[in-house]
Amino acid sequence: MPESTILNLVNADIYQGKSQILNNVNLKIDKGEFVYLIGKTGSGKSSLLKTLYGELPLKEGEGTVVGFDLRKMDWKKIPFLRRKMGIVFQDFKLLTDRNVYENLEFVLKATGWDDSKKIKARIEEVLDLVHLPAKSYKKTYEMSGGEQQRVDIARALLNNPELILADEPTGNLDPETTDMIMQLLISISKDMNTSILMATHDYRLLQQYPSRIVRVEDNSVSDNAVIPQQHTTTI
Ligand SMILES: Nc1ncnc2c1ncn2[C@@H]1O[C@H](COP(=O)(O)OP(=O)(O)O)[C@@H](O)[C@H]1O
Ligand SMILES: [Mg+2]
Repeated sequence: MPESTILNLVNADIYQGKSQILNNVNLKIDKGEFVYLIGKTGSGKSSLLKTLYGELPLKEGEGTVVGFDLRKMDWKKIPFLRRKMGIVFQDFKLLTDRNVYENLEFVLKATGWDDSKKIKARIEEVLDLVHLPAKSYKKTYEMSGGEQQRVDIARALLNNPELILADEPTGNLDPETTDMIMQLLISISKDMNTSILMATHDYRLLQQYPSRIVRVEDNSVSDNAVIPQQHTTTI
């Protein structure tokens, strides 16, 4: 596999337990690409992403992500896989009893950082990347949805990931905050050459920020899908 390929699935079947969700998925993503993953609720977007970050096992087909063979993953390797990728969720999954600094410090310590000066410097760096003032270490429950999503993205960036998997990152945000988060994600893929695979069902984003579209429908995945011609705002 060439070094520029960050993610490669070949005839991969995606399962939730014993039920097959997706059949024969073929998907290749190169370094720095921004790719939308679209499809109706329940079509299998999250299941596909979960397989890519090691939460669901890949039992059929081939899969390589940031240099890891998904067929050879076991729970001991998952922390190493997660160090090379960032994951962003719709509901942020921040630790609500801790402030911004502690949330980020927690991840760095859990991934092997032990020098407190380096930890502080990296936290200030990622907060700067997401345009949050580094000195405002609020408790996360005191922050707006947009601020919490920026902390979530900062957290995903801590270990300089080659790939960010974002599962409906704007799903809980108003349109203005959604635009700010989209611009941030697009600038991360452009400026840092980070690949991004983002699940969404927000039709407006595909038009406003055009990029490659991968579509999940009827248990399969089609690449280079066109923007669906419909008048509703969700897909
Ligand atoms: N934890 C689970 N256990 C069993 N089935 C699940 C689980 N999570 C999702 N599913 C099923 O997998 C299918 C795809 O769901 P999901 O991947 O969450 O779709 P999407 O993210 O596109 O909304 C759905 O039929 C859903 O009911
Ligand atoms: Mg989902």
